[in-house]
Amino acid sequence: MHHPTIHICQHPLLQHNLAIIRDKNSNREQFRAAINKVTQYILHNATGNLPLTSKIITTPLTETEARVLDSSVPIIISPVMRAGLAMADVMMDLIPSASVYHLGLYRDEKTYQPITYYNKLHSNLDYQNARIFILDPMLATGGSILAALKIFQQCGAIEKNITIACMIAAPEGIQAVSHAFPNITMFTGAVDQKLNENAYIVPGLGDAGDRIFGTL
Ligand code: PRP
Ligand code: URA
Repeated sequence: MHHPTIHICQHPLLQHNLAIIRDKNSNREQFRAAINKVTQYILHNATGNLPLTSKIITTPLTETEARVLDSSVPIIISPVMRAGLAMADVMMDLIPSASVYHLGLYRDEKTYQPITYYNKLHSNLDYQNARIFILDPMLATGGSILAALKIFQQCGAIEKNITIACMIAAPEGIQAVSHAFPNITMFTGAVDQKLNENAYIVPGLGDAGDRIFGTL
């Protein structure tokens, strides 16, 4: 058994909103509002180690040294489409200076293997120095997150600078990701019981993308 850093965020308001997104009787409006709130709490925790630097600023009263995000450290938000898009909106609000590199991945319905259909991660960006946040509400088999991690690894990203932010994770997915990437950091709102025979998380919330975008 590998021991990556996995943080389960226990904030009461996060857990309250997690119950709303799990509930099949929540309507689309309630579901989206709760997704937004859960994301805020997850990302509040997941961004806790971003590097700061000192800067002299002038308040209306005096000059003072303040701490600001270090602009020499690129911050990359990487939402896994589709469901990760809902989390990216929140993170772009929190960190307006961040770049957003979308990854299009879906699970083949029969093999559950991830298929990459969108990836534009080939600029001259300093991936080695970058702090990368991979966003996807659901970590089921782990196949999608593993595919995302391999894409970033090929670009030169450093494992310890990558953070996975999800809402619900299955033990199987955590094990698969931590086996291949033992130094990865993960944040989640819950670790559920298991995967069912269709590789859905139980109790879970059903299909995250379909519920966020209303395509059930
Ligand atoms: C869902 C979810 C994850 C993936 C998790 O996406 O948003 O990306 O499944 O499963 P895994 O850990 O077993 O890979 P899905 O493939 O349904 O695509 P969608 O978001 O476009 O609906
Ligand atoms: N993807 C989802 O959206 N939900 C699951 O339970 C598993 C994969």
